[in-house]
Amino acid sequence: MICPELRFFIWVFHKKVHITQGDLEGKALIVSWVTQKARGSNLVLYWKEHSNKMLKAHGKSKKYNFYNYTSGHIHHCTIRNLEVHHHHYHNLFYHSVSDFVVLFLQYDTKYYYMVGVGQTERTFWFLTPPKPGPDVPYTVGLIGELGQSFDSNITLTHYENNPLKGQTILFVGDFSYADTYPNHDNNRWDIWGRFVERSTAYQPWIWTVGNHELDFAPQTGETKPFQPFKHRYRTPHRSSGSTEPFWYSIKRGLAYIIVLASYSAYGKYTPQYMWLEQEFPKVNKTETPWLIVLMHSMWYNSYDYHYMEGETMRAMYELWFIKNKVDVIFAGYVHGERSECISNIAYNLVNGICSPVKDLSAPVYITIGDGGNLEGLSTIMTEPQPKYSAFRDASFGHAISSIKNRTHTYYGWHRNQDGCAVDGDTMWFFNRFWHPIDDSPDDDS
Ligand SMILES: [Fe+2]
Repeated sequence: MICPELRFFIWVFHKKVHITQGDLEGKALIVSWVTQKARGSNLVLYWKEHSNKMLKAHGKSKKYNFYNYTSGHIHHCTIRNLEVHHHHYHNLFYHSVSDFVVLFLQYDTKYYYMVGVGQTERTFWFLTPPKPGPDVPYTVGLIGELGQSFDSNITLTHYENNPLKGQTILFVGDFSYADTYPNHDNNRWDIWGRFVERSTAYQPWIWTVGNHELDFAPQTGETKPFQPFKHRYRTPHRSSGSTEPFWYSIKRGLAYIIVLASYSAYGKYTPQYMWLEQEFPKVNKTETPWLIVLMHSMWYNSYDYHYMEGETMRAMYELWFIKNKVDVIFAGYVHGERSECISNIAYNLVNGICSPVKDLSAPVYITIGDGGNLEGLSTIMTEPQPKYSAFRDASFGHAISSIKNRTHTYYGWHRNQDGCAVDGDTMWFFNRFWHPIDDSPDDDS
């Protein structure tokens, strides 16, 4: 596998490998990695399991500076089905992001891929999702505020060992917590990339930005937010017509997943608002029965910490969520909480009707911001527990959502202090379109 012309770079290590979905439908994949001292190879070789036909894709790399830190070469490479998206490839998608090359990613297939070709070769593998459709089961993992503490490691290990086997991670924000170190020490982004590689190299993590990705530090001259995130992580935002990587949609199996940005403007006429308005009509619940929204700052949170921080976005978008039959919202920020099926859309400023009420057409809100952060557990809650809150528990952990079919999803929250297979909180979700019955029990049993 060693090409003679590349021998010069033989000791360039290709590290911090991570993958994410690369298009709307799930037939493309973005592979990213970092080389530290020299640029190294930008080549990704990949091949289907049981096939000896090697395919190639070339990425592009870039470095960035943050205050007194200079990053390594950060590579991004998109593996995609050029046949389907040929037109877009040249005109629209990714043009400024990466070079890449033809290949035919098929649904529901295992692929191997290699980075560091001819240098320090490393091989990983991934599974492509099933074709978007209503009846193929799919299992997603949920992690938020992961950070890089001992708890973070336990959370990731529990997720990896969970017998329910999540096939992709919906990550609800707060990656490395580099911003909590002096001058936002960006080495922490590198360390985090190495820490999570054991999972992110093998299954796509779907990225949502959290408050710890803002990296807004005017005191050090860093006046443009999100720079480390933007350089290190890619999202397939253009394929859903988004103009920024912070909000976008993907289909994955029987789910349509909308990722929203709590820290980008979302008021009326803003780019995110205009995009979301166009986005909801595209959701076809016959093709993708489950409409999932990811965001960082939860609308219904009864912890003391970050209480009501999501309220302004709720005021903007909640009615849309109900009309368009969003099934569930996953967010981060604080630790475990699950809401009843509730809405607070009657309020019109003068009528005084401003409490959440039970609403069968409303989604369930699940807060899963309990990966392991650095701030420790925030345990102070609003007392008494508001009626809209069905379950809450300040522990570290992860969750798994097993989407069984068009009507049923089994949700389980797994606390780090329990065994990997133990559920700390569970619930059967019924689809808001296909099976809109009450899935919001008043007790926690
Ligand atoms: Fe956060």
